[in-house]
Amino acid sequence: MIRYRAAARGVAFLFLAFCSLQTVQADQGAVERGRYLATAANCASCHTKPGGAPYAGGLPFYTDFGTLHSTNITSDPKVGIGAWSLAQFTRAMREGLDDQGQHLYPAFPYTAFTKMSDGDIADLYAFFKTVPASSFQAPVNEMKFPFDRRELLSVWKRMFFEPGRFVAKADRSAEWNRGAYLVEGPAHCGACHSPRNLLGAEKTADAYAGGVHYDKVQGGAVRRWSAVNLTAASGGLKAWSVDDLVGYLKTGHGNRAGSFGPMNEVVINSTSRLAASDVRAMAVYIKSLAPIESGGTVSLSGRERGAGETLYTIHCGTCHLPTGLGSTPGQDLGPPLAGSAVAQAPDPSSLINIILYGSQVVMPTPAKAWKNMKPLYDALDDEQVAAIANYVRSSFGNRGGAVSADDVERQRSDD
Ligand code: HEC
Ligand code: HEC
Ligand code: HEC
Repeated sequence: MIRYRAAARGVAFLFLAFCSLQTVQADQGAVERGRYLATAANCASCHTKPGGAPYAGGLPFYTDFGTLHSTNITSDPKVGIGAWSLAQFTRAMREGLDDQGQHLYPAFPYTAFTKMSDGDIADLYAFFKTVPASSFQAPVNEMKFPFDRRELLSVWKRMFFEPGRFVAKADRSAEWNRGAYLVEGPAHCGACHSPRNLLGAEKTADAYAGGVHYDKVQGGAVRRWSAVNLTAASGGLKAWSVDDLVGYLKTGHGNRAGSFGPMNEVVINSTSRLAASDVRAMAVYIKSLAPIESGGTVSLSGRERGAGETLYTIHCGTCHLPTGLGSTPGQDLGPPLAGSAVAQAPDPSSLINIILYGSQVVMPTPAKAWKNMKPLYDALDDEQVAAIANYVRSSFGNRGGAVSADDVERQRSDD
């Protein structure tokens, strides 16, 4: 009898040990899934500053309403989110409220994260519990009055924000729905690629038709960028195939373009690290976006066109060819400018930036790498850059609004 009980106890012990091992494994699974979602959501690009501890925050965000800083989201219980409950974390992701119930600024893209599933948010929570604590405290925000008042965000939210979850479309494939979930939810592509209204809310009717993004660059200057039209418009990604898009998101290079500027971080920290099937799903969804033409044309006099063409031939034609069709495969001197979304973007900032600063390629060398495009900051004056930009925006079948010397000057200033 005694021996029997001991044996039973032994079995019970083994059973319990087995169960707790299962829990540990389940938790480990959640942590790994959460780590992957943190990559898809690129939490690191916004919450890790150069040289800082991972996820310790302190990165400045420049908005039309002032500067704010990302917070410490390590497991530190005082300055991080180590003491937050799952409910508090979920509320931040879904409703944009901090642990005290205060409104958070939408520079934290909860307008997209709200679409994530409960399971995915719980997995993220499990991962952030494992992020080593850092006691770094982010600098105080410098928002202009009255935008420094967080209470006012309740008005903003009532006007522009609806908490919710992603709803799959029954008439679309599983791949399309997976892509839609990633692009609209965790990957928040619209945060940069959708135009915003005067109060900084994404214009949902024009989603993905092109937006503006401010970034701090080496040396400390704040630079304006246009994030291109991702819809199937002729000024957007009409010329791109799903494969072109997969290649670009996976490696930063493709038949149509190479990434530069703020898009580099998206590719390096996020899309290049995602499963090939997820990247393809995102590309399938993006290629299904109905075209939203952004419009704008520039009409040049014969003399202006001639001057632009001459400058283009001297400075650009060797790589992009006089036809704008890009160099032949194998040579890989430069991608096509005909149909380029950067060239035709409603806001010409990125086109001007690539002429002034070059393509500043920082991607690790992939199998097929374009050569670097050199900066022409010193070689060309503002009028000349504008003349080239206008020529490129009105040639090769391209369409885009006029670029002035003042537009170029604005991209040079360092403030
Ligand atoms: C586009 C930049 C950006 C991305 C991407 C981003 N965040 Fe943030 N996040 C911010 C900013 C800026 C704040 C500060 C907002 C404020 O002060 O109102 C913030 C605040 C937060 C807060 C509130 C913390 C507190 O102490 O109040 C949490 C939690 C958070 N982020 C988690 C995440 C997680 C998890 C991810 C990835 C899934 C993520 N963030 C991705 C910019 C970002
Ligand atoms: C932080 C802002 C930001 C985010 C987030 C962002 N992008 Fe971009 N994207 C840009 C900017 C700026 C450009 C223009 C510079 C360039 O072409 O590299 C760009 C360019 C692109 C281009 C290349 C267009 C061309 O003709 O060269 C594609 C494609 C693209 N983004 C897709 C995406 C997708 C998909 C996502 C979501 C996973 C995304 N972007 C998220 C800022 C962003
Ligand atoms: C030495 C070859 C070379 C020269 C000269 C050159 N480019 Fe480029 N250009 C490139 C390469 C390579 C890329 C791809 C950049 C990358 O991989 O990030 C590029 C990209 C671009 C893009 C972005 C296309 C897109 O849709 O993403 C534009 C616009 C552009 N170049 C315009 C110009 C203009 C205008 C000139 C002349 C002022 C010029 N380039 C001169 C090689 C060149």
